[in-house]
Amino acid sequence: MPEPADRRYGPAPLPQPRGPLSTAVTDALRRAPHDLPASLGADLDPADPLTDEDLQLTLFLCYELHYRGWRGVDEDWEWQPTLLGLRARAERPFEAALRRLVGSPRVPAAGVAAGLAELVAADDGPSLAATLQRRADLAQFREFVVHRSVYHLREADPHSWALPRLGGEAKAALVEIQTDEYGNGRLDRMHAELFRRTLDRLGLDTGYGAHVDAVPAVTLATNNLMSLFGLHRRLRGAVLGHLAAFEMTSSLPNRRYGNGLRRLGFDEVATRFYDEHVEADAVHEQIAAHDMCGGLVRAEPALAPDVLFGAAAGLAVDRLFAAHLLDSWAAGRSSLRAPAPTASSAVAVAPLVPPTVSLPATAPAVA
Ligand SMILES: [Fe+2]
Ligand SMILES: [Fe+2]
Repeated sequence: MPEPADRRYGPAPLPQPRGPLSTAVTDALRRAPHDLPASLGADLDPADPLTDEDLQLTLFLCYELHYRGWRGVDEDWEWQPTLLGLRARAERPFEAALRRLVGSPRVPAAGVAAGLAELVAADDGPSLAATLQRRADLAQFREFVVHRSVYHLREADPHSWALPRLGGEAKAALVEIQTDEYGNGRLDRMHAELFRRTLDRLGLDTGYGAHVDAVPAVTLATNNLMSLFGLHRRLRGAVLGHLAAFEMTSSLPNRRYGNGLRRLGFDEVATRFYDEHVEADAVHEQIAAHDMCGGLVRAEPALAPDVLFGAAAGLAVDRLFAAHLLDSWAAGRSSLRAPAPTASSAVAVAPLVPPTVSLPATAPAVA
């Protein structure tokens, strides 16, 4: 009997709240849409917005209404004005913290693509990928996959928000990248579906949003910043810069992740998500930097600083994320807030059709 679609593709069940604000929001979302008290979130002043569990979950709760929604939650909450007002109050300290974290990246005379290359070259974060390749045990690899599942099960969706905001060269380049991310229209090649099989092979719940409760604020922040950039037209430069930095720092780490899984004895079904990204993102990074971000700035030169801000913010939050995992493991702790749901509660994953049958030899490489 087929699993209900909402287990695989959402909506996910509402997460457990993590503080007064997320408690108020989840309580409200369980009821019919109504006005929230104006005082809610009025005094928001978290010491560190990027690691504040209550703030990051509140943002995630609000943003998810624009993706798959939440199970059992009235869809009219998406545009409820007082909830949007609360989201705006929560976004202000978040965006301010991102800007404090990265300052104002300089746009070099050589242009925005050169600026992106400089940011990536200067990215000296802890090498999570090297640890996963060489040393991580199975429990640690599973933790990493759990963290990343929040994004990978909806891979590419946050950057798709940019599509209707663009025209011309930048739009064509973004479409080229996104087409690959979505498997060129083939369900079994969509990156989110390849990742679902990795989760399945690791014995983890493959349902959309299954691991939200398990991941900490910094993991939610890596997702929330994509939603912040994607959902605000004024930040269209930042969302493209974020995607470019993502693609430019993807190829080698993905090779390492795949090798780490092979070291732990996993097969090609488990590693395929990572293997697919090795070559494809080497292509994507050129399209992203030169055609997409370059094209945007050729059309709208004033957006160059935003492109570099988005890239720098993505890299910086990812460094915080990597440091959290490595510090937790070095201290002998789990990097998760709670044990991850396992495959016993997972949805059925369709077997991967052998590539010789499903993939014509002429199919373009994907990423
Ligand atoms: Fe991808
Ligand atoms: Fe890619």
